[in-house]
Amino acid sequence: MTTCYFTATGNCLYVAGRIGGRLLSIPQLMRQKEIAVEDDAVGIVAPVYAVEMPMMVKAFLEKAKIRTDYFFFVYTYGMGYAEAFAHVEVAARKAGLTLSYIDAVQMVDNYLPFFDMREQIDTLPAKDVEGQLDRIVKDIAARVLRPVHVTDRNLAEMEKWTRNHAANILKKDTALGYTVNGDCIRCGICAKVCPADNITVTEDGVHFSDHCEVCYACLHNCPQSAIHMPVEAGTTHYRNEHVTLKDIIRSNG
Ligand SMILES: Cc1cc2nc3c(=O)[nH]c(=O)nc-3n(C[C@H](O)[C@H](O)[C@H](O)COP(=O)(O)O)c2cc1C
Repeated sequence: MTTCYFTATGNCLYVAGRIGGRLLSIPQLMRQKEIAVEDDAVGIVAPVYAVEMPMMVKAFLEKAKIRTDYFFFVYTYGMGYAEAFAHVEVAARKAGLTLSYIDAVQMVDNYLPFFDMREQIDTLPAKDVEGQLDRIVKDIAARVLRPVHVTDRNLAEMEKWTRNHAANILKKDTALGYTVNGDCIRCGICAKVCPADNITVTEDGVHFSDHCEVCYACLHNCPQSAIHMPVEAGTTHYRNEHVTLKDIIRSNG
């Protein structure tokens, strides 16, 4: 079994590890000219971004040649995922894949413009992450089928709230408004955790390019808490309790 993952703050890395098999980082695979993944079961673990998968995960599905008899997809999310399952079904079909199983694990919502991370962490026990995971891990090990049926209503909703629309809103409201304050010590960790190679750190400071994935890995993982965006619902930053900064660097760098 092979489990490919995308993570910014560790939730998906933790879930991918719990599901098991050979773990492959999607940002690292995407740096290859060609991607071929073949196994008896192949899956993706990714966060919900604006009720869809991250842009890079969609690009991965388009670029990778995945060969398997059992293709699974597990989202992690905080508040809700609306048409996110339907997006995967449509993207998988376009890639010539049959989606065998899809589910989602509710965890901390790291969307800082809306959510206070302190409150998210404090209320996490009520989400029973381990209980959710036990079921999903067991399902995947037993190759349970849990496909999704995409209705016309799903397609209409997806059309209304398209990736471009969502990505543009997210970028305009957040990523294009990143600022770095005087606490920055130019340690370069933001560049190392960025899955999109969008950040360079020089003597002059931190420079953001134009292909941000809007994942907030830089912001949440900054040891100095020096990176900010125009609207933040709290001052606490987040990384999954089972995942270290080194793990994120290893995954994305
Ligand atoms: C830009 C952005 C958009 C998000 N949109 C949603 C969303 O629509 N619904 C939701 O439930 N969670 C949303 N989230 C929360 C993440 O899906 C969730 O915290 C996820 O577990 C993070 O995974 P990671 O720790 O592996 O990066 C969003 C997070 C970010 C950064």
